[in-house]
Amino acid sequence: MTRPFVRQAAALAALALLALPAAAQTAPLKVGFMLPATGTFAALGDMIEKGFKLHVQEQGGTLGGRSIQYFSVDDESDPSKAIDNVGKLIKRDQVDVIVGTVHSGVALAMARAARESKTLLIVPNAGAGEITGPLCAPNIVRSSFSNWQPAYAMGVVAGRRGVKRAITITWNYAAGAETVKGFTEGLEKNGGKVVKELNLPFPNVEFQALLTEIASQKPDAVYAFFAGAAAVKFVKDYNAAGLRKSIPLYGPGFLTDGTLEAQGPAAQGLLTTLHYADNLDTPRNNAFRKSFALAYKAQADVYAVQGYDAAQILGAGLAAVKGDMGQRDALAAAMRRVTVDSPRGKFTLSAAGNPVQDIYLRQAQGRNNEFRAVAVKALADPARGCKL
Ligand code: PHB
Repeated sequence: MTRPFVRQAAALAALALLALPAAAQTAPLKVGFMLPATGTFAALGDMIEKGFKLHVQEQGGTLGGRSIQYFSVDDESDPSKAIDNVGKLIKRDQVDVIVGTVHSGVALAMARAARESKTLLIVPNAGAGEITGPLCAPNIVRSSFSNWQPAYAMGVVAGRRGVKRAITITWNYAAGAETVKGFTEGLEKNGGKVVKELNLPFPNVEFQALLTEIASQKPDAVYAFFAGAAAVKFVKDYNAAGLRKSIPLYGPGFLTDGTLEAQGPAAQGLLTTLHYADNLDTPRNNAFRKSFALAYKAQADVYAVQGYDAAQILGAGLAAVKGDMGQRDALAAAMRRVTVDSPRGKFTLSAAGNPVQDIYLRQAQGRNNEFRAVAVKALADPARGCKL
């Protein structure tokens, strides 16, 4: 009587083993976040991480059948510490994938390190053109934008709105220089020009002297790139200086994204261009915003979307190789082939690994950057200098 029972028990045990999810059979996948947890971009880093983890949670805590172990480094948006910081994830923690970062100068050092070590890198914000230009590599993709994309679109919009003479104001680092270049290109193609470029060192927020200069030059419009806590201060200072009434303020959407509550009335009505708008009335965006609000008791923003989509891209790559990191080349290739069902709308990645996406014209209204129009459809970064 005991023998059939033993056999049955053994068969059941074998079945149970087969039924175990792949995640239980393999070690967790190591994901290393290199994001700002302090400084002017701290809120941006937080939203990226929240977005990434939300997608993983929605998949039951796994991607491609693998459970995830997270590692984190605060990069402080400080390029001088970038090599050390990325080394912690690559050498000390030996992560499988790096997700980072916000600041272009820091991200450039990360891209170089990822190229050398062949570590997978997903950039969930930093728009430095070089990352999907001369530094492009099969193991590097971006889930966000290139600095050129929203900037060029704003130049087009400003030109069409009749702006002839514009002044730009931003920080003098890679992202600042590239956003000014993109805006200038779009504006010049549409009948305007930039008559003065004002700069200050990152992450300074002493805007007063520069605002005085703007008041004396009286341009048709100002184009400003700041983000995070600095964007809050700039928009408030611009308004307090009395400039809002006489000189329209334009910018890439970072100027008002994730910041509207803190900016208060000073930001209401501002027009910006970006690859996301809060109130896109699609089932995908509505479900995402609901899920985000439930999980975090907070409103999603563009940075949360970019983190969410970074996880979607990684998930698609892992699914293609059934979670086997040993097939890294196939995984990286699958990541590039993905059509991302993003809250921003579906997008694909260019050969260089940058999103090809619609850029929207939005207007700040209450707590939302509301969709007004598609400024430029399916805009691809020129990817100058990328050879694969
Ligand atoms: C960048 O450094 O590329 C950067 C930083 C913050 C943003 C956008 C771009 O909001």
